[in-house]
Amino acid sequence: MSEDIKVKDGLRESATFDRNTMTEIRRAAETGIYDIRGFGAKRKLPHFDDLLFLGASMSRYPLEGYREKCNTSVTLGTRYAKKPIVLDIPVTIAGMSFGALSANAKEALGRGASLMGTSTTTGDGGMTPEERGQSSKLVYQYLPSRYGMNPDDLRKADAIEVVLGQGAKPGGGGMLLGQKITDRVAKMRTLPMGVDQRSACRHPDWTGPDDLAIKIQELREITDWQVPIYIKVGATRTYYDVKLAVKAGADVIVVDGMQGGTAATQDVFIEHVGIPTLAAIPQAVRALQEMGMHRKVQLIVSGGIRNGADVAKCMALGADAVAIGTAALIALGCNHPMYDEEFKKIGSAAGFYDDYHEGKDPAGISTQDPELMKRLDPVDGGRRLANYLNVLTLEAQTLARACGKNDLRNLEPEDLVALTVESAAMANVPLAGTSWIPGKGY
Ligand SMILES: Cc1cc2nc3c(=O)[nH]c(=O)nc-3n(C[C@H](O)[C@H](O)[C@H](O)COP(=O)(O)O)c2cc1C
Repeated sequence: MSEDIKVKDGLRESATFDRNTMTEIRRAAETGIYDIRGFGAKRKLPHFDDLLFLGASMSRYPLEGYREKCNTSVTLGTRYAKKPIVLDIPVTIAGMSFGALSANAKEALGRGASLMGTSTTTGDGGMTPEERGQSSKLVYQYLPSRYGMNPDDLRKADAIEVVLGQGAKPGGGGMLLGQKITDRVAKMRTLPMGVDQRSACRHPDWTGPDDLAIKIQELREITDWQVPIYIKVGATRTYYDVKLAVKAGADVIVVDGMQGGTAATQDVFIEHVGIPTLAAIPQAVRALQEMGMHRKVQLIVSGGIRNGADVAKCMALGADAVAIGTAALIALGCNHPMYDEEFKKIGSAAGFYDDYHEGKDPAGISTQDPELMKRLDPVDGGRRLANYLNVLTLEAQTLARACGKNDLRNLEPEDLVALTVESAAMANVPLAGTSWIPGKGY
C-alpha cells in the first residue's frame, strides 16, 4: 500500500495494523485456516534493481553492439557428466509441476525453451510426454515427494535436478489441492483423484549430506554417468549448503532466492522464510571459490528474475546461468489484463492473481480445467516465451558489451555498484560513488 493513502482527511492508518493486516486478521478469524497462495514474495526486498552497471568510458573499452560478438552460450555439467548440457543462452526454464500447471503450459514452456536453444525442467508430478516431446533439453526433477518419479523417465532426461528446497519455501513442501487432482494428474502420481496432496519437505531416504552423496551415486549409475546431476536449494544458509552439495558430488548447483515463485504454499512461508536472491549469490560464489570449484561446478540462480538486467547482474555476481519461473508464466499470458473481468469474478484482478492452487486461472495456465486449459495454445505460448527469452538475452548482451565484455560470463562484480547500503552489503559490491563495501570480509 502506498504511503500517500495512509493519511486521508486527517485520519491516520497504522503502519503496523494497516488495512491489509486487518483484512488478513479478519479472514483468519472467520475461517480458522491459514492463507495459501502461489507466486513469490510480495513484500519489497533488496533486489537487482538496487544494483547498477558501470558502463565503460575512459578506463574501460566498450564493445560495438552491431559488429562485435558477445557470447551467450554456456555448458552445464562439466564436472562428471559424459554429456554436459550446452545451452545457447544462459536463461533456463525452472522446474514447475505438472498438476500445478496445465499440460498445455508445460508443453509451451518446452517449445519456447527449445526455440531458443535452452532447457526446461519437469517438476513435482513427473514428466509429460508433450513436455518431453517438445523440449530439446529437458531436466528431470527428483523431488522429496517422488510424485510421478519414474526410472524410465530419469533415463529420458538430459540432466537430473535433485530438489532439496525452493526459495519460496525452504524447509517446506508444496501443496496441490484436490480440485486440481484430475484423473491424469492422479495417475501420474499414483494417488487418488480429488484429494489434497501435500508434498514432503525432505527426502524420505536420507537424513544428511552423506546420504545425498550416495543418492547422487545411485542416480549416476541409473543414468550411466551420462547426464549432469544438479542440486537445487532454497536460499538460506547458502554458503554451507553449496559447500555440502559440491562435496556430495553435484555437477551443477541451483540456488533459488526467496523471491522465487511457487504454485501453492502458506503465505507466511513465502514472506518470512529464506534470504533474498541478491544476498544468496555472493555466498554461493564464495563457497565455490574457496573450494576451487567456481565455474567447474556451475551455478544457476533463480528467484525474481524479470529482465536482461537481472540476468546480467546475476552473471556479474558469478552465476553461470539463471532460471525463470514466474516471468515465463507471464510471458505465456499469466495475469493478462485481457482476462480482467474473469479475474474479478473469482475475487482477484489481472496483475494480482496468485490463487494458483484453486485451479481457476482464466489464462488457462495454472489449471487442470479442460475448458480453461484450451485457452493456452502451446504453439503460440511457446512463440511468446521464445520472444521473451530472446529479449532477455539481447538486453543482457547490451549491458555486457557496454562493460566491454565479449562473453556474458566475463561480467564481474567489479562492473557493479549498489544504490543502498543494504544491497551493497548483501551483494558485496561498493556503494555507488564510493569504494565502500559495507561489512566487507563478511
Ligand atoms: C507454478 C509454479 C510451480 C512450481 N513448481 C515447482 C516444482 O515442482 N519443483 C520445484 O523445484 N520448484 C517449483 N517451482 C519453483 C521454480 O522452480 C523456481 O524455483 C521459481 O519459480 C523461480 O523464481 P521466479 O518464479 O521468481 O522466477 C514452481 C514455481 C511456480 C511458479
